[in-house]
Amino acid sequence: MTDTRGGNGPSKAKASGLSRRSFVRYGAAGLAVAAVGGGVAVWANRPPVSPRQQGLPRIPDWTAADIPSLRGRSALVTGGNGYPVGDRSGLGFHDALELARAGADVTIASRKQERGEEAVRHIRSIVPGASIRFETLDLSYLASVAGFAERMRASRGSLDILVNNAGVMGRKSREVSANGFERVFATNTLGHFVLTALLLPLLREGQSPRVVWVSSSRSFMGAINFTDLQLVQDYDYGAAYDNSKLANLMLAFEMQRRSVAEGWGISSIAAHPGIARTNLVPDGPGPDSLEGRNHRYMPFLFQPPAQGALPTLYAATSPQAAAGGYYGPNGAMGLGGLPGWAGIPEKADDQQVAGRLWTTLEQLGDVTFGRMG
Ligand SMILES: NC(=O)c1ccc[n+]([C@@H]2O[C@H](COP(=O)([O-])OP(=O)(O)OC[C@H]3O[C@@H](n4cnc5c(N)ncnc54)[C@H](OP(=O)(O)O)[C@@H]3O)[C@@H](O)[C@H]2O)c1
Repeated sequence: MTDTRGGNGPSKAKASGLSRRSFVRYGAAGLAVAAVGGGVAVWANRPPVSPRQQGLPRIPDWTAADIPSLRGRSALVTGGNGYPVGDRSGLGFHDALELARAGADVTIASRKQERGEEAVRHIRSIVPGASIRFETLDLSYLASVAGFAERMRASRGSLDILVNNAGVMGRKSREVSANGFERVFATNTLGHFVLTALLLPLLREGQSPRVVWVSSSRSFMGAINFTDLQLVQDYDYGAAYDNSKLANLMLAFEMQRRSVAEGWGISSIAAHPGIARTNLVPDGPGPDSLEGRNHRYMPFLFQPPAQGALPTLYAATSPQAAAGGYYGPNGAMGLGGLPGWAGIPEKADDQQVAGRLWTTLEQLGDVTFGRMG
């Protein structure tokens, strides 16, 4: 038997007339075609889309240069500390950078102080005189959320823009927060819900206040299963993430309905970044997961984080952004491009489920967010 793996023996590729380089090139091209083909098939077979955003006029090309002046406005971005690491940087970092560049007084908040302070230094080096600071916040720990909200309330009278951006993708085995909640649910959904509830008085004092909830096109694959909301019985890191992103989308819509019904004067808007190269996968399921392999072998699918941040920035700042709307990249399958209307999974418009989710989160988070009716 001939060993073709090394030494001086002819490789399989050479023996078949292919150089190693073209073997790798054709292999990568084949993988890409399969991936794109698979993506199209998944996209074509995705669960029903709500008709709500169909027929709306196309959004004219919009970039960060179109952000209006935000002088005199205040903004909070959760997870804004993802400073560049190699070729990755968090979407929140770019949200914070552009909000600060437009003149807003920006607070970024997340767990790691060192990375937060690095992001502040980096933003100040790009925008001299930027009004930006870092605060420690662990969304997965309710006492940390309460402490953070208390500090915010003690230090200011109002808040104009809240970007609920921070998020984790789960690791391969189930983890729980300090409060005993599944970690992805605790961070992405419950933590942001409680934070928004506790900041409601500040937001209500804001200038045309907005809350932006960052979801994902993976919300199409999510489900809200009240009998196993935290995947105790059947944990899967992908499902934990998808469910949390569907939940956040539903919370965005439910908050808008409640804001109108109760006269809060706050616009609640959802956005998703398509797919962007960040720390989400490396910090989550890691390089050996499906998502990690996509990172490694199909980098062309991932847009730069500065572009991925645009739908969120549009939702947070554009005078044209609609309360209760959902924005994402306008390119093929919503993976990349400039801000456009995002497809809404039909299930995200289920008001009964949204209402029950809201009250369930109020109970789990021990907050009263406001009552309807
Ligand atoms: N990248 C994509 O392709 C993609 C696609 C769809 C949706 N999204 C969404 O975009 C948002 C940003 O993600 P990203 O891609 O920029 O990922 P990222 O680079 O990993 O950034 C995540 C941010 O969340 C913070 N964070 C994590 N756990 C936290 C906690 N317990 N408390 C407070 N902050 C916490 C992190 O800071 P610390 O580690 O310091 O806490 C970091 O700043 C997420 O909501 C994600 O679901 C991303």
